[in-house]
Amino acid sequence: MDPTTFVRELEAFKAERLGPILGAGQTALATPSSTEPKQLLQVALANEISVSELAAVWIPSTREVDVKIAFARQAGDEANHFQLVADRLTALGFDLSAFAAPADNPLFAYMKALPTTVERIAAGLFTLESIAYGVNENFMAYCAAKGDDETVRIYREYIQPDEQAHQRLGQKLLAKYATTPELQAAARTTVARVLEIATVGRAQAATKLGTACFPGC
Ligand SMILES: [Fe+2]
Ligand SMILES: [Fe+2]
Repeated sequence: MDPTTFVRELEAFKAERLGPILGAGQTALATPSSTEPKQLLQVALANEISVSELAAVWIPSTREVDVKIAFARQAGDEANHFQLVADRLTALGFDLSAFAAPADNPLFAYMKALPTTVERIAAGLFTLESIAYGVNENFMAYCAAKGDDETVRIYREYIQPDEQAHQRLGQKLLAKYATTPELQAAARTTVARVLEIATVGRAQAATKLGTACFPGC
């Protein structure tokens, strides 16, 4: 399949499998919950540092220079998101000295072990960033309903434009590198697996947090 058609089809496949994750957030928006945005921002803090580390870990073992630089820039962007969220949490009275970076959850463990460039682009920039963008929109609606307009502003002005740019870079790099039937099959399998693990992980976390409207990375 030519790379442009392939990426278009993979986008449709991803959108369909993202449906349940985003639908859970939309359902949760209609259900009253006592969980405060401050609690959910702590999830963002953990996610942002985890994805920054993931992108960084891929840099030395990725041969293609444009992908290497894409991961390096992403690592920096996600570190910036961490700082934005950390500053917001501090303003809300959270003591950041109590924060420790979490151990890899099953999703990050799976992604960290991916050996090839195409799988890494498919998992990280292409899929994880789409999940992040979508769930962050639900999180922002949740914050708006709770009156936390400053958190909404930070996501709208700084974090979401980056997550969207990461996702678009993923499309571009996949079109460039997923050029054979084997590579395209590997990309598709990876997208499916990331969404599968994320769907299970987010459902479990939603039960613990009392809402499915928690942010991604
Ligand atoms: Fe991101
Ligand atoms: Fe991020």
